[in-house]
Amino acid sequence: EKGGFRTFMDKEIADEPQAVAETLLGRTDASGRLVLDELHIDESLLRTIDKIVVIACGTAAYAGHVAKYAIEHWCRIPVEVELAHEFRYRDPVVSEKTLVVAISQSGETMDTLMAVRHAREQGAKVLSIVNTHGSTIPRESDAVLYTHAGPEIAVASTKAFLAQLTAAYLLGLYLAQVRGTKFPDEIAAVLQDLRETPDKIQTVIDRGDRVRMIARWMDSRSVLFLGRHVGYPVALEGALKLKELAYIHAEGFAAGELKHGPIALIEPGQPVFVIVPSPRGRDSLHSKVISNTQEIRARGARTLVIAEDGDDAVLPYADEVFWVPQTPTLLSPLVTVVPLQIFACELATARGLDVDQPRNLAKSVTVE
Ligand code: F6R
Repeated sequence: EKGGFRTFMDKEIADEPQAVAETLLGRTDASGRLVLDELHIDESLLRTIDKIVVIACGTAAYAGHVAKYAIEHWCRIPVEVELAHEFRYRDPVVSEKTLVVAISQSGETMDTLMAVRHAREQGAKVLSIVNTHGSTIPRESDAVLYTHAGPEIAVASTKAFLAQLTAAYLLGLYLAQVRGTKFPDEIAAVLQDLRETPDKIQTVIDRGDRVRMIARWMDSRSVLFLGRHVGYPVALEGALKLKELAYIHAEGFAAGELKHGPIALIEPGQPVFVIVPSPRGRDSLHSKVISNTQEIRARGARTLVIAEDGDDAVLPYADEVFWVPQTPTLLSPLVTVVPLQIFACELATARGLDVDQPRNLAKSVTVE
């Protein structure tokens, strides 16, 4: 079943281009308009909502974090992202005008399910983004947008994460279409960019040897990850993958937060992954991350940089560069997270650990 791969995780990373492509498939009509009839949700209702709250746990929550950047930008609706268990046990402000978006690969995560129930009790509409058909969360939601990643066997989520991102982008673009916050040709252009991502993801996978080699030689007891804007949740996800698979201390930071504390952690030899935004996007974003890279390198950090093809500005400050194809900023997590997944998988494999079944973890967490 592993199709010749060492582990399910290796296979599921290899499946990522297809997971994204399948999730995009069949969701536009001949004229290129998004059609999400499967939601069975009234368009007039989607026009009245004044807030979106994304609830999820773990990797799915990081997909939600990316969704916030995209949906606020495209739709001008405020989006909050909250860990489901935190949402459930405070006193969240939601109303009939709140759309709660629950993201879950398994559709069985108890923390997320309890938050879904709580949100509906408060009168909110719940739309879930789920990978597993017939699971509980979709049954208890008002609407479902399925990701088509196929079954994910390895405990650590990889292809499901990319499919969650894809579905979240589709939802954001659909809301922009329904609410008229973007012109149809702008939406069509982003959809075209999305359709080009599976090939780019494949390119990143094909270039995996470099990051695997670095992983095999990594002997540090701690690895840090820095990102800004959508690179921030990617940094958090890179750190989570490393914790759960390799059992080493890993932490993701917002790059802008460095000087507010974390920079004190930097000592000679400390490996730090830096997710550099596209130089073709907002100028300030790119240059700020470059100067963060410069700052940590000046203090001895070993910088492992993920950057876009052709971005020579990173070269003076990078000990290693993992190049990814040029991708619009909001969609870039689809490519920038892949080297981090490969890194964690390889490092854990090199240490002889069970990549598919890390200690203490279960694929779906059905207790609170
Ligand atoms: C990380 C991981 C977990 C899950 C989380 C939510 O690799 O797999 O963090 O993402 O437990 O699970 P789902 O998406 O099934 O609700």
